[in-house]
Amino acid sequence: MFNSKPIGLFDSGIGGTSIWSAIHDLMPNEDTIYLADSKNAPYGLKSKDEIIALSIKNTEFLLRQNAKIIVVACNTATTNAIKELRAKYDVPFIGIEPAIKPAALHSKTQKIGILATKGTLSSELFNKTVELYHDTNIIEQIGYGLVELIEGGKLHSAEMTQLLQSYVDPMIEQGIDYLVLGCSHYPYLIPQLKKILPSHIQIIDSGEAVAKQTLHVLKEKAGLNNPEHKGKTEFYSNLNPEILSDILKNKHSVAYLDF
Ligand code: DGL
Repeated sequence: MFNSKPIGLFDSGIGGTSIWSAIHDLMPNEDTIYLADSKNAPYGLKSKDEIIALSIKNTEFLLRQNAKIIVVACNTATTNAIKELRAKYDVPFIGIEPAIKPAALHSKTQKIGILATKGTLSSELFNKTVELYHDTNIIEQIGYGLVELIEGGKLHSAEMTQLLQSYVDPMIEQGIDYLVLGCSHYPYLIPQLKKILPSHIQIIDSGEAVAKQTLHVLKEKAGLNNPEHKGKTEFYSNLNPEILSDILKNKHSVAYLDF
């Protein structure tokens, strides 16, 4: 039996398309619906209650579109709201969390850096994970301003390079050998980061792991689509559809949603 309903994904904005790409590459026969709540970005500076309320609103939109599973393509929403979402709805949720585990397990210097939002770094879920790796020195940095620049279409600006430099320089000085990208917007910064970071520092994000976990859960629940089907995608943004379209290299149409 196949399940032809779509996979629903949401993020505070355009960043979660990094997760969408990983999911679409792994499961090209699945239909997907992506919701960018750019009007309310950044989530990273909001309270836990606000993040929960927005995550509920996004989930309800995706459920109205018949989503069979919901991917919370946002570390900030996952670390602050996934418990509440799972308690409220029957549909399975896949979340994204900073990849501390692989970085800590592979680090030779036992020093890793993490760049994420304030909301993620201050969450209980993130801090519980950090406690598990107390032998590793985890250098945390809030990525103030990064999401705002990406959402504003200023991914390749001088301002962005300066901010990144100021965030990673102290980590480089302290001897990290892994940099964890704990926000789904940040994989789009990898080309710039590679120019700044010495080549021995590895960059890790969680996109592929989230895609694999989504596949695993759908398989378990016999929820995969017909492998002969060619997956379609609907993209929605409630602020600037053209900025979302830009990050997708204008290969997909994006609808404006008054939401
Ligand atoms: N993309 C999001 C994340 O993964 C949130 C960024 C934000 O809105 O602050 O954390």
